[in-house]
Amino acid sequence: MASRLVYGIDVGTTKIVAIAGRVVDGQRGWVEVVGVGEAPSYGLKRGLIVDRDAATESVAAAIEACGGGLHGGTVSVGIAGGHISSSNVEVALLNRSRDRIVTERFVRRLEAEARQTGFAEEEKVIHVVPRSFVLDGTDGVHQPVGLAARKVMMRAHVVSGAISSIQNILGAVEDCGVKVSRVVLEPLASSEACLLDEDRRLGVALIDIGGGTTDIAAFVRGSLTHTDVVPLGGESFSADVAYGLKVPFETADDLKLRYGTVLSHTIDDVAAVRLGERHYNANFISQILEYRAREVLEYARDSLDQVGVRNSLPAGAVLTGGGSLLRGMDELAEKILGMRTKIVMPRQIKGNAEPVRKPQYSTAVGLLYFGAKNDDLRPKGKGARNTSFGSIVSAVKEWFGFGV
Ligand SMILES: Nc1ncnc2c1ncn2[C@@H]1O[C@H](COP(=O)(O)OP(=O)(O)OP(=O)(O)O)[C@@H](O)[C@H]1O
Ligand SMILES: [Mg+2]
Repeated sequence: MASRLVYGIDVGTTKIVAIAGRVVDGQRGWVEVVGVGEAPSYGLKRGLIVDRDAATESVAAAIEACGGGLHGGTVSVGIAGGHISSSNVEVALLNRSRDRIVTERFVRRLEAEARQTGFAEEEKVIHVVPRSFVLDGTDGVHQPVGLAARKVMMRAHVVSGAISSIQNILGAVEDCGVKVSRVVLEPLASSEACLLDEDRRLGVALIDIGGGTTDIAAFVRGSLTHTDVVPLGGESFSADVAYGLKVPFETADDLKLRYGTVLSHTIDDVAAVRLGERHYNANFISQILEYRAREVLEYARDSLDQVGVRNSLPAGAVLTGGGSLLRGMDELAEKILGMRTKIVMPRQIKGNAEPVRKPQYSTAVGLLYFGAKNDDLRPKGKGARNTSFGSIVSAVKEWFGFGV
């Protein structure tokens, strides 16, 4: 049998990445990267599309750079932004089958039930991630299929987003003639790429500091327990420096990349850095960056506190995304979050690994791993595997309940 292809499109605020992979082991989510294309992102703000044409052109340029077409595989597209909300729900159903055995299909029914739980009319559920099951009062079951039980309760983490924002992202990709198979919450994709099962079992928080958003996913005792999207990222840091120094954004971004640190106490008061003809006070720049970094990290800390998980993360925090590369970010995070922190990039990349071995590519690589793992579980409708260049897809609209 020919090996399965999977594609990912990470529509980021600063860059779009189109990535192609060949599935090596679907269950483990191992994928060999066979192509990567990148283009600067225009038309997005804080993870959301604000100019459809500009965004579409950027996506098209990334696809072009990836080799021009996404043929014969499923396409996963990342989503983030302030419109995302998530919660933990509990749903229960009676298993009326004669032999009392819990089937895969029964679990799907529970998931469908969880999708119905109290979201606003303008929201659409993106993920239902089962956390654990209670079978006739027996708590803490992770694999219910094949076990006997009458009353089955499922605890799940449910993520939803604004229909219009999801539609805009899908639209920009569809306009390039690509059939989208699924949208994936960006921190979940990054988690696939960066986290070890062992970290998840222990309890870990992933914090992806991008250009427009900072995305959070926390796992407690192996289960996804919390997700959040903070509408602040690396661009906010550069914008603050631009404002503080009264220089163009590009100059500020350049200064940040060359000389930036969030540990202002390590920079001498009178130290100067040079860019072009001008000199700038390095300590002032680092104070601006530290102030913003504190705000983002305090937001992440409060987000973990609000759901009471910050003390249940013995594996600590892992930072990824381009914003995590700002010098001193891990040290400051350790202090503010109160847990050990490290900076991570995608792991276990096979094939053309070098271009994506950086924290900026965690989401893109994660989209491949997510696609490889979850394709096996999807209902195999007619043409479900066939991704062709050229047609706008009714399947996506059906899937989102827009009707056709
Ligand atoms: N070495 C570095 N030091 C500091 N900041 C960096 C470095 N490299 C990249 N960045 C910053 O990282 C940000 C981009 O990160 P990333 O590529 O993960 O974002 P994105 O995926 O485009 O955006 P988002 O996920 O928020 O939609 C930019 O603000 C950039 O300035
Ligand atoms: Mg990103």
